[in-house]
Amino acid sequence: MHREVDLSLARRLKIEVTPSARSRSDFATDVLEGLSAKPKRLSCKYFYDERGSELFEDICNLPEYYLTRTEQAILELFAPEMARYSNGNMTLVELGSGSSLKTRLLIEALLAAQGSLHYLPVDISESMMVEVAKELIEEYADLHITAYVAEYNEGLRKIAEEGLGQKMVLFLGSNIGNFDFHETVDFLRNVRRQLSSDDVVLLGADMQKDLSVLEAAYNDSKNVTAEFNLNLLRRINRDLGGEFDLNSFSHVALYNVRECRIEMYLRSERDQEVHIRELDKTFHFKDGETIHTENSYKYSKEQIVELCSQSGFDVARSWEDEKGYFSLNLLTPA
Ligand code: AVJ
Repeated sequence: MHREVDLSLARRLKIEVTPSARSRSDFATDVLEGLSAKPKRLSCKYFYDERGSELFEDICNLPEYYLTRTEQAILELFAPEMARYSNGNMTLVELGSGSSLKTRLLIEALLAAQGSLHYLPVDISESMMVEVAKELIEEYADLHITAYVAEYNEGLRKIAEEGLGQKMVLFLGSNIGNFDFHETVDFLRNVRRQLSSDDVVLLGADMQKDLSVLEAAYNDSKNVTAEFNLNLLRRINRDLGGEFDLNSFSHVALYNVRECRIEMYLRSERDQEVHIRELDKTFHFKDGETIHTENSYKYSKEQIVELCSQSGFDVARSWEDEKGYFSLNLLTPA
């Protein structure tokens, strides 16, 4: 009996794993390059191993991290309005889907508007995406899912090859915040190239606001963000045979007013040498030396319009919470 149920669920779920999503050598190369650079840096895309993805979910539930709940509140109010852009058979693509929690509101709005829905999440965290996809198809009988374990551009390229009809591409949670202005324009231009004239993009952006609110969101009182940041070193220890002592590095997050971005660092609390076996190399850290691990840009309305116009999109609609902390922007090809 159970088997039949499982099979019917399986028919509605496909998982695609791209080769690069499996590769460990990229990580080694990037760590070698980043820790050899001056100043030292590591890419924030490596935060999201299994533990890192769980820690990020915990961050989203922190009282100081207003982003997730604010975006959720906007979606609760306006998802039906967003679903009106559907021509009756819209496909939902999501870049960086994570737990898909906020996406549920759009899934429900689109199911209500069109009866059935094909949802294509793209994420680099395989474990979380597979688990979430299973939950979603169990919960929504008229939902089909094709899940891509891939980085954004690769996933999107694969999806464009599928020749689906009208698409809504979600880029929520201020995930663009990790890119600087030029990277965002490059990214959005690439998205634009993969879309047809009736497709739309829904772009979440965290807005500029009081410095104390911003800094608190990245320096939470439970130190979950610190754990999330330090998890990068844990991952190097596990995957590359690193010998980082996590107790001698500390989490730093501050708002750079000129650049309009939160910057995160790991700071060495003493003079130390750290060997990484798979790189066959020892790195020296001075007392107080930092590794830059993340930028998280914050936007003005004007900047969002500028980013979009430079990448071939019009901002057709914007929705904000009443404090103006976060905005969701519906982009249409210009
Ligand atoms: C997933 C990039 C939107 O920048 O707020 C949260 C990541 N880093 N706390 C953000 C993050 C530290 C998050 N984004």
